Amino acid sequence: MSDPLFDLSGRVGVVTGGAGQLGSVYAAGLAERGMRVAVFDVEDGDLPDGVRSIPVDVTDRSALEGALRELEAEWGTPHLLVNNAALDSPPDAPAEEVGPFEAYPESSFDAVMDVNVKGVVLCCQVVGGAMAREGRGSIVNVSSVYGMLSPVQDLYAFRRERGETFFKPVAYSVSKSAILNLTRYLATYWGKTGVRVNTLTLAGVWNDQPAEFLEAYDARVPMGRMLRAEEALGALVFLASDASSYVTGSNVVVDGGWSAW
Ligand SMILES: NC(=O)c1ccc[n+]([C@@H]2O[C@H](COP(=O)([O-])OP(=O)(O)OC[C@H]3O[C@@H](n4cnc5c(N)ncnc54)[C@H](O)[C@@H]3O)[C@@H](O)[C@H]2O)c1
Repeated sequence: MSDPLFDLSGRVGVVTGGAGQLGSVYAAGLAERGMRVAVFDVEDGDLPDGVRSIPVDVTDRSALEGALRELEAEWGTPHLLVNNAALDSPPDAPAEEVGPFEAYPESSFDAVMDVNVKGVVLCCQVVGGAMAREGRGSIVNVSSVYGMLSPVQDLYAFRRERGETFFKPVAYSVSKSAILNLTRYLATYWGKTGVRVNTLTLAGVWNDQPAEFLEAYDARVPMGRMLRAEEALGALVFLASDASSYVTGSNVVVDGGWSAW
């Protein structure tokens, strides 16, 4: 039986960064539920059936306007915007990016803030603005437990013990904190328009990390394990659908209990 509360069929969604690890799961999961999904990404990636790619850089407002025009011409104004595209420092990031805070490069700070904060603001202006004119829509801004709370630098101690310098860098945390209040700002700004805006906060996602990291991480989580990418989908479907019709300005935390102790 399909549940009308969670029914997404016939609706149109935009997933930014939809070619990445989590974005591709969102795009596939929403498409399986009957949504027409457009991925806004700088990479092509491996897109599932029923998902179309519109190559666009989220930091480029006129490119976003072009992407929206292309989408609206075929499918109409989106019902859902998932602001998922972001930059983080990968485990093999250049040494200066994961070195001491005091020497964190200004250029890295600017690059991360550009995509993770300005990119989200621009997508909200362009796609969210169209939703507000239409008088309906749901925006899901993706944050991280590292935006609610400080990173636990001890999780990376095993790398320092090997003689590498590795600190989880500052820009990612700062950028993900900004998401929490952008959500609140827009939830109130668009409160009466029918556009709802919420944050989806995730903890670390399993991605074949080194055993020493997994051991330290799992010990830090009440549920004793990392998030599996598919497990972020339930909260997204809730926020996308009418099941959350009175939910706006909130932060839905999917963290296995990370923030509970
Ligand atoms: N993976 C985790 O452990 C984790 C934990 C908490 C939160 N998150 C959040 O989930 C989201 C997705 O993370 P992921 O692990 O899937 O990342 P990912 O690196 O696999 O995917 C990010 C995608 O964003 C795209 N992108 C980067 N810059 C862009 C730009 N300027 N314009 C358009 N697209 C751009 C990339 O091409 C990539 O496809 C991020 O917002 C991240 O902060 C991830």
